[in-house]
Parts: sequence; C-alpha cells; structure tokens
Amino acid sequence: MSIRNLPSPKLFSVFLVFSVFLIRFPGLVLPAVVTLESMEIFKTHEWIPNAKPIVYFRCKEENKTVLPDVKKAHVLYSFKGEESWQPLTELSSKKCKRCGFYEEDSFKSDDVYEEWEFCPSDFSGPDGKYIRFKDKEFNATFLCPKCVPFANASSSASSSHGGGKRINVALIILISVVVSTVLSFGVVGVYKYWQKKKREQDQARFLKLFEDGDDIEDELGLGM
Ligand SMILES: *[C@@H]1O[C@H](CO)[C@@H](O)[C@H](O)[C@H]1NC(C)=O
Ligand SMILES: *[C@@H]1O[C@H](CO)[C@@H](O)[C@H](O)[C@H]1NC(C)=O
Repeated sequence: MSIRNLPSPKLFSVFLVFSVFLIRFPGLVLPAVVTLESMEIFKTHEWIPNAKPIVYFRCKEENKTVLPDVKKAHVLYSFKGEESWQPLTELSSKKCKRCGFYEEDSFKSDDVYEEWEFCPSDFSGPDGKYIRFKDKEFNATFLCPKCVPFANASSSASSSHGGGKRINVALIILISVVVSTVLSFGVVGVYKYWQKKKREQDQARFLKLFEDGDDIEDELGLGM
C-alpha cells in the first residue's frame, strides 16, 4: 500500500465545501413554519360591551387564521403549536411578509391591532422565539425554530463587528479539517517510512546471515 491508496484529498475538499456551504447558506433549511405560542390582547375593538371578538392573523395574499380561543382582553392564552389552526404561516425566503392581527367587524372594515413586517430575522430569541408587543393592543409570542440560523446570520452580518461568529465557525472547521488531514498524512508517512527502514534492516541482517553462513560453510568445507 502506498500513500496514494489513502482517501483522496478530493474527499476532504468535498466535505469542506459542503460544510462551508451549509454555514454560508443556512436558508436552505427553509421553508420554516411559524406557530403562535401565546397571545394576549389588551382590548377588543367591539362597540358592544362583553361582545366576543373574532381575532385573526393574516399575511398579505394569504388566508385568514382565526384564533378561536382568544375572546377576552387581559387573558394570556398559551398554545402548543399543534392546534387545528396552526401553523400561522410559513416563511420561505429571507424576505419579510406583511402580516398583522385584526378583528372582524361586520359593519365596517376590520379593525387592526397592528400590521407590520414579519421577518425571519426577527426570530432571534432562544429556540426561535419572537415577541411582538404593542402597547394597549396585544402581546404575542411566535415560534420558528428553523428561522434561528437566519436570525443569527443576519444579526451577525449587521453587527458592526462584521459577521464575526459565522466566519469564526467556518474558520475553525477549515483549520480542523486541514490540521487533521495533514496530521493523518504525516502519521501514515512516518509509519510507512519506519516500515521501509525496518524492512531494509531485516534484509541487510538476512543477507549478512547468509554471508556468515557461507563463511561457516567454507570453513566447514576446508575442515573436511
Ligand atoms: C386559502 O383558502 C382556500 C379556500 O379555503 C384554499 O383553497 C387555499 O388553498 C388556501 N390557501 C392557502 C395558501 O392556504
Ligand atoms: C409578553 O408575553 C411574554 C410571554 O408570555 C412575556 O414574557 C413578556 O413579558 C410579555 N411582555 C409584556 C410587555 O407584557
């Protein structure tokens, strides 16, 4: 076996390119579903006291998602993320969507709690949490675990230290791959060299033995 029979450096390069690719483009894991974890409204827009509001979430050009449980102000409603009306929406690219919470109104156009730009990069809390709070209107917690790489990527890219974290990770992987490749080649090389030396020594000793044997034979021949 020669050094050429080792796993080729090509394999290492493919692995390297693949890992760098994953780090550079975490968006490949999208589309990511967004669920509502909790919701509290601070008021209803109903005219009639104690009337039950119909609160819904909607992103532009998508269907309404009515929140069937949210009926009272100042009550914190918690959800598992598995309710029949979940998930709220999907984020399929880095682009933001225009979404909002509204309340159905049968006499005039629906009341707006708030309409805002809903962005993958907002899910920067632990486990992809995003809290949206509007004074006197609502407090909602969204979850999107798959958005986390996006949030991290964009927050590190936008930080003044210039994308430090992601580059560091890529650099560490690169260095470890290079170091381990060099190291394994080195170890194999040293081992091969040692084997070759040993074989040569053995051969030399063997030949020497033969020569010695000849000498003995000669001596014996002389003796006879
Ligand atoms: C929106 O609702 C309509 C009718 O219920 C349905 O056919 C359509 O697939 C829905 N679209 C989405 C994006 O869920
Ligand atoms: C909004 O709700 C979250 C989750 O229940 C809570 O941690 C947070 O303190 C609330 N924020 C406000 C301003 O009420």
